[in-house]
Amino acid sequence: MSTKPERVIIFDTTLRDGEQSPGAAMTLEEKIEVAEFLDAMGVDIIEAGFPISSVGDFEAVREVSARVKNAVVCGLSRAGFKDIDRAGEALKGAKRPRIHTFISTSPVHMKHKLQMGANAVLDAVGASVAHARNLTDDVQWSAEDATRTERDFLCRTVELAIRSGATTINIPDTVGYTTPQEYVEIIEMLKARVPGAERVIFSTHCHNDLGLAVANSLAGVIAGARQVECTINGIGERAGNAALEEVVMSLKVRRDLMPFTTGIDTTMIARASKLVSNVTGFPVQYNKAIVGKNAFSHESGIHQDGMLKHVETYEIMRPEDVGVKETSLVLGKLSGRHAFREKLANLGYQLGDAPFEALRVETGTGLLPGAELTLSIHGEDRRVKTTGDGPVDAIFKAIRELYPHAATLQLFQIQAVTEGTDAQATVSVRLEENGRTVTGRAADTDTLVAAAYAYVNALNKLLVKREKQVPEALSVAR
Ligand code: KIV
Ligand code: ZN
Repeated sequence: MSTKPERVIIFDTTLRDGEQSPGAAMTLEEKIEVAEFLDAMGVDIIEAGFPISSVGDFEAVREVSARVKNAVVCGLSRAGFKDIDRAGEALKGAKRPRIHTFISTSPVHMKHKLQMGANAVLDAVGASVAHARNLTDDVQWSAEDATRTERDFLCRTVELAIRSGATTINIPDTVGYTTPQEYVEIIEMLKARVPGAERVIFSTHCHNDLGLAVANSLAGVIAGARQVECTINGIGERAGNAALEEVVMSLKVRRDLMPFTTGIDTTMIARASKLVSNVTGFPVQYNKAIVGKNAFSHESGIHQDGMLKHVETYEIMRPEDVGVKETSLVLGKLSGRHAFREKLANLGYQLGDAPFEALRVETGTGLLPGAELTLSIHGEDRRVKTTGDGPVDAIFKAIRELYPHAATLQLFQIQAVTEGTDAQATVSVRLEENGRTVTGRAADTDTLVAAAYAYVNALNKLLVKREKQVPEALSVAR
């Protein structure tokens, strides 16, 4: 008799933990676009932000709440009542809201970060979860740095969170320290020892500092967790989080060993990866599992020969299972803007509405490169003429003159999206200001136009980042 595979809930935190990684700021429009895509591809829960951390995060959670059709929308908060209320406020328009509240439980975090003793932390767990539960029935509680927490204390905090009304218990490997075997032991111990454990869903949240995030997440599922927290392309703090595409495809390909299903339409994975790469400006490494450029390419003669004889000789999944198709983008100078926009959207590139009205560049041997730019700032057109060491320098100088700022240029990179001399170029621009980095990207047939768009895109992101506060460590349930 065959039993139906159990369902694993996919909790995506690309817009929260993913966006927290240095350089990965997204604008409100980009967050909405990513959220709508995640919703359409079958993600169960979308963590849309950390509402108290900035007005931008608050707005993102509010807008995502209003637009998402199927997924639960989640907002993060520390254990303080103000944090929780702000999250509740941002989630008001969501059909299915979830408040996710957390506090550190490991000795090192309690002593140095929170400067709180064990009893104070226990009080905060009870009060914060009960407070959140007054605002919504769906409350997730996380024991930050759970894997470095003393086991008996972890059991006490989890028991208290369940008694206070938490419906999901998340066990983060915050610093990417655990191993699959140890993580299995922790989840199994909690399920066996904590009264009320059978009433809640246990969740994994693994960071990738040792490259074990996906392996640990799968180990957690094998041990009884039924929610996996992950991000597209594995983006996130430091070395990132467990990659959604790797978790989902591992469960799909190895259902013989792990009899679980997810609600993800895997054929949308490649587009999700490109979308997130483009809006964050984080390239996907060529050999990245599932979504890397080389993930389905076979170079060596032996492999090619095997593939031609039978694809299963070297392929454990089909490229089309994750939405990888041979896309030949035959677009050039004569292609219409609409077709161009559509094709780029299929490839995950977004072409924003023109932030500048006009750009004229003059360059050539013996000429001083110059740019004449009209930029629309808060609805008002401003115009300037500049010269520079090269045409790109002249354009960037023009932008700096029209919109003065102190950010420094860290990276300027051009990539061809299509082939040929009339290729569509993608330009990445990374800016740094007071330790905050952002990456803007844009595509156009004209590299100089793309450069101007990319710089303006980076500047817009910097504005989002500027108002984002680094959350204080202190988490007091008052
Ligand atoms: O890594 C972590 O511990 C977190 C928590 C806030 C869940 O991101
Ligand atoms: Zn995290």
